[in-house]
Amino acid sequence: MYALAFDNEFARDVRAGLTCAQKTLPCRYLYDDVGSALFEAITFLPEYGLTRADARILQTNAAEITGLLGGCLVVAELGSGTGAKTRPILEQIGLRQDVLYYPIDVSSVALEHCERELAPLGEIVPLQMSYLEGLRDVVEKRQRGERLLVLFLGSTIGNFEPDAAIDFLTSVRQLLARGDALLLGTDLVKPWAQMIPAYDDPAGVTAAFNMNLLSRINRELCADFDLRQFRHVARYDAEAQRIEMHLLSRRNQVVSIQRAALDVEFLAGESIWTESSHKFRPDQLTAMSRMTGFRLERQWIDEEWPFAESLLFAD
Ligand code: AVI
Repeated sequence: MYALAFDNEFARDVRAGLTCAQKTLPCRYLYDDVGSALFEAITFLPEYGLTRADARILQTNAAEITGLLGGCLVVAELGSGTGAKTRPILEQIGLRQDVLYYPIDVSSVALEHCERELAPLGEIVPLQMSYLEGLRDVVEKRQRGERLLVLFLGSTIGNFEPDAAIDFLTSVRQLLARGDALLLGTDLVKPWAQMIPAYDDPAGVTAAFNMNLLSRINRELCADFDLRQFRHVARYDAEAQRIEMHLLSRRNQVVSIQRAALDVEFLAGESIWTESSHKFRPDQLTAMSRMTGFRLERQWIDEEWPFAESLLFAD
């Protein structure tokens, strides 16, 4: 019997996820301080071309992207992190008007870094909020005549379930006015041999990123996961067009999680599904845009690593 009641959202989500038939944990919990540092390391791996492709497209096409958007542009970025990839866009805008940039992120460390690095380019207004809360705030601050460019880069949309992605983009659209724009970064379907090592690299960085979720539960919820009794697995579901990350139990075992008031049984080979990373075909972005109240104006695809940057207009 447990003396402690589970008293926070993390504990409740862990309890809900680990009592389902297919055990799951929400992927947002991968990003504590250790997990965020490990994700940063992933972006430098030779096998993980996604972040470099995203940055390359912005670097090469910033002038064309901003050129398609006349008027007085204000930039808001959902999940900005340090905002490093956004610099070329802000530099281009700075050639024609004053820069006003709202980086939106839940990490105060990333936002401080962002403000420090980008301050020489113009006015940086960090918002430590969730994506939609932050965007709502930006819309409330909007001055007459300003046009909003919202950035949602890095294929974060791929970590949403398809229905949730549609709901999310629809909510973004509802906050925007006609003529505003959304620049959406999405990783594309590519050969299996390129996708799997990106999520199961030989150096084990992605495995550490995934495993850290169990360490986090041990640390924050007083659990006794023995990490050596689990292993990282990345698999591709071709029909669903998604990479799945799982943590597989190496044997039958029981783990107790005190702050979730839970003893959880694992069979050998049973998994906890920790993340889905959906991949897209370019034409699916046209359909998604239409379904969510946008029109796809232009799309750029990286030549080295299939990744698309799509400029959607709010009609
Ligand atoms: C943040 N997100 C887009 C990454 C992805 O590729 O789905 C997270 C990640 N998971 C494993 N490696 C990177």
